[in-house]
Amino acid sequence: IKTEREVEGRYETIWLVVEEDALDQWPGGPLSVVGQPAPRKSGPARARGEARYIGDLRPAGLLQAAVLRSPYAHARVRRIDLSRALSAPGVRGALGPGEAAQLDELAGYHGAPVAAVAADSLAEAQAALELIDVEWEVLEPLLDPDEAVRRGQLLQEPRTHERGDVDQALADADVVIEAEYRTQSVVHNALETHQAVCVWEGPQLTVYISTQDIWGVRNEVARTLGMERDDVRVVCEYMGGGFGAKNNAHHYTYVAAELARRTGRPVRCALTRREEATASGNRNPTIQRLKIGARFDGTITALQGDYIACIGWSGWHASTAGPMQTLYACPNVRTVEYPTRLNTPPMESFRAPGFVEGTFGMECLVDELAARLGIDPLELRRRNHTDSDPAAGRVYSSKNLLECYRRAETHWARRETVKASSKGPWKRGVGMASQIWGGGGGPPAYAWLRIGSDGRAQVVTGMQDIGTGSRTVMAQIAAEELGLPLDRVDTSLGDTSRGPFAVAAAGSSTTPSMGPAVRAAAADAARQILEIAAQRYERTPEALRLAGGRIVATDGESWPLSDLLSLLGNAQILGKGARGPNPAGMGVHTFGVQVVEVAVDVETGQVVVDKVYSIHDVGRVINPLGASSQIEGGIIQGVGGTLSERQVLDAATGTVLTRTLDAYRMPTIADVPEIVAELVDVPDPNLTNLGAKGLGEPPIIPVAAAIANAIRDATGADVRELPIDRATML
Ligand code: MOS
Repeated sequence: IKTEREVEGRYETIWLVVEEDALDQWPGGPLSVVGQPAPRKSGPARARGEARYIGDLRPAGLLQAAVLRSPYAHARVRRIDLSRALSAPGVRGALGPGEAAQLDELAGYHGAPVAAVAADSLAEAQAALELIDVEWEVLEPLLDPDEAVRRGQLLQEPRTHERGDVDQALADADVVIEAEYRTQSVVHNALETHQAVCVWEGPQLTVYISTQDIWGVRNEVARTLGMERDDVRVVCEYMGGGFGAKNNAHHYTYVAAELARRTGRPVRCALTRREEATASGNRNPTIQRLKIGARFDGTITALQGDYIACIGWSGWHASTAGPMQTLYACPNVRTVEYPTRLNTPPMESFRAPGFVEGTFGMECLVDELAARLGIDPLELRRRNHTDSDPAAGRVYSSKNLLECYRRAETHWARRETVKASSKGPWKRGVGMASQIWGGGGGPPAYAWLRIGSDGRAQVVTGMQDIGTGSRTVMAQIAAEELGLPLDRVDTSLGDTSRGPFAVAAAGSSTTPSMGPAVRAAAADAARQILEIAAQRYERTPEALRLAGGRIVATDGESWPLSDLLSLLGNAQILGKGARGPNPAGMGVHTFGVQVVEVAVDVETGQVVVDKVYSIHDVGRVINPLGASSQIEGGIIQGVGGTLSERQVLDAATGTVLTRTLDAYRMPTIADVPEIVAELVDVPDPNLTNLGAKGLGEPPIIPVAAAIANAIRDATGADVRELPIDRATML
């Protein structure tokens, strides 16, 4: 069949060989295991240090690689001499420009990789970098986004969206507000830095890599190195976090693979924390020149946005205009987005790429309109609510945003009390912002379920758990379907040679993509078990079901499942499951709203975020405990990106100045607000056998706008630039 898939706001039409998604959804609400809070199954292994991350791997004979990087934002290697480095102590191999993929003689940003060395120790490899003789031709860097638009220095053609007649609607509007918003570059800073260990055995390459997408890395490496896909095995059993910048193979994998090939030894190439600050990717800055037109009653009649996505030397064009196009029922909308190519560090996907930036502009603009019209911001949002996708012109598979608004009322009602508690220079206020995003996942995705005579079930997939607890979620789904307690279900994942094809852990897609496949595999195994049970206990399979670790007959009799399974001996039951297509002709999206309470010291410009209420509609919730952790993580990352984090470049040369975590200010525990997470938890009736969407990205989306709107409420100031630090405030 022909179907559609969405990851990170990118849509793709695919052809699919897929079994029908034949299972009826479970009834809504918490079930025996699904919907019940479950601590991460891998928690004890992680806490005890038994979980081996990529950074922990030390295969025998391991060499360590170090990468020579451009000290300039734009430069060309005229001449390079590796011979002194090659004869340095401990050095086993070296690569110059062109000798591994992505080692380039043309450096387009500060930190671009140009050469590499492998040595017995990391210290020897790093020392040898100093011995590489390079003659640079320093080129003029292009750093100004407006200049890049004028010169046509774009990554691809500008993207436009137009509906209705915007010019007429702006001319007819009772009020028009025009404002320019700017967002900054922020860096992912996962706990584990980007890294890979490469090992060759004959023609076969194993890549151990801290990645969100083992199959994507497999396919990319095979394509780049001209290998058969099955000759590349990619393993990632545990990783220390990924927020979008670990979706690809990157230069460190190719450096490690080529040095391993040349030396015949395993090679590790890991970015240091300082390299992470320049060469690991970032959320691209944006400039957003926006207009909104409305009637006095608050009906939004016109929206216009000119967006510049300040993409660095490489990256892709995420949709900054998406929120303007889809948040409200406006008939007249025109957006133009320019993706500029600058001599700045590369853009990589970063947790809801585009929509985080675009929601800041759009939802601040809506609150500026509310202030001008004297309409309550929550009421203004309700008046412009839409039940169908106003950009694509199709219905949503489900949308419970009005229910999110209803639940927000109690928190929003604290506004007058909070404002009245302002004291001296500390002004208090409350703000809100809405959220729309994809997150419905999609096929193809497969799972197996194995169950043997020991009575334990194992979910086998080729997915990865990036630290968010996906192992636990999949085990919960299988346990529910098999009527087993959660501690009798294990999950095997993280290895392309051990499980069937799975999706990237990106685009909030793991649960909605993999979950239905896991449930289908468990249901297939359950069907086989009941066929055996029907013979053993002389019933029809239809008269039997699995519940509470037992086989239960409609006549009330029941038998322990373990008794039946013990008959299997060395045999195993293997269930297979595939993820079905998304509902045809429907948009699958997540929705939500946040209400934020802040205090602002109007003498110093210090902002303290006191409370964040975060209410989301992501369909069925599998693990409420993991879900609240996702919400907390998204909000904390959002607070950092709103108040303190900024990758600072030297304005004249384009070199990165924030190369340490002293200079690049991550939020600390003292910056973390009280977070109240609420989920509507109604299964999407049109989406798969599970009705679940993803939650990884939605909670970071409204944070910046909600904080900025709370600051306006507290102080009357329009804040239009991120980060909102003392410099912006004063
Ligand atoms: Mo991504 S930003 O890995 O969905």
